Amino acid sequence: MSVHIAAKKGEIAKTVLQPGDPLRAKYIADHFLTEVKLVSQTRNIFYFTGLYKGKEVSVGASGMGCASIGIYSYELFTEFDVDTIIRIGTCGAYTDELKVFDLLNVEFAASESTYAKFAWEIEDEKLKHQGNTFDLLNQTSKDLSLEIKPTTIHTSDIFYRKSQDLPAIAAKYNCAAVEMEAFALFANAQHLGKNAATILTVSDIIPTGDYISADQREKALKPMIELALETAIK
Ligand code: HPA
Repeated sequence: MSVHIAAKKGEIAKTVLQPGDPLRAKYIADHFLTEVKLVSQTRNIFYFTGLYKGKEVSVGASGMGCASIGIYSYELFTEFDVDTIIRIGTCGAYTDELKVFDLLNVEFAASESTYAKFAWEIEDEKLKHQGNTFDLLNQTSKDLSLEIKPTTIHTSDIFYRKSQDLPAIAAKYNCAAVEMEAFALFANAQHLGKNAATILTVSDIIPTGDYISADQREKALKPMIELALETAIK
């Protein structure tokens, strides 16, 4: 048991899939895993452990933003001996060269967040995925005939803002899309020597206003969930 996760030691698998939304974690557990056990529901941030094709996998939410994923990923790595976290999320595209439903494998996350600096004295404003999970995801996507684009993204603390201009950090690092968590996940994994990857489905195109509607989302996220699960059991 840790401060924010009520599971007992041994109740969480070595590899964890981490969507932002607790109900997405429940959806994955209900539709893709067998012999599922709910191992934590502190703050309604659900964690489930079950079997995928006979191998143990956990799925649980990160919540939104660097502060939240910073807490959950740190406790998973340090209190539950988790080796690998695969974040599965959605992102907004800064360019109409990306289309809704596109699948991105985050190679780098750039951020103006002070999380890495003040948590771990990591001064870089652009952090890399950690370990070999990024490569495994690329390999697995080929096996599944899924197209996945290695991408540099912007991790932002801000969803609503005054200016419509591209944020300076996104321009500086040529970020193709924006989400809110990968940078802190990569910072924790870098500090702790763990594996961390982030795959994202493009849910909205910021310059055109195109977006995946709520009822399309379930179907839209299925390829990403399968890719993460097939990678998790490798
Ligand atoms: N901004 C930040 N995070 C997001 C977005 C966005 O536009 N879309 C999906 N996740």
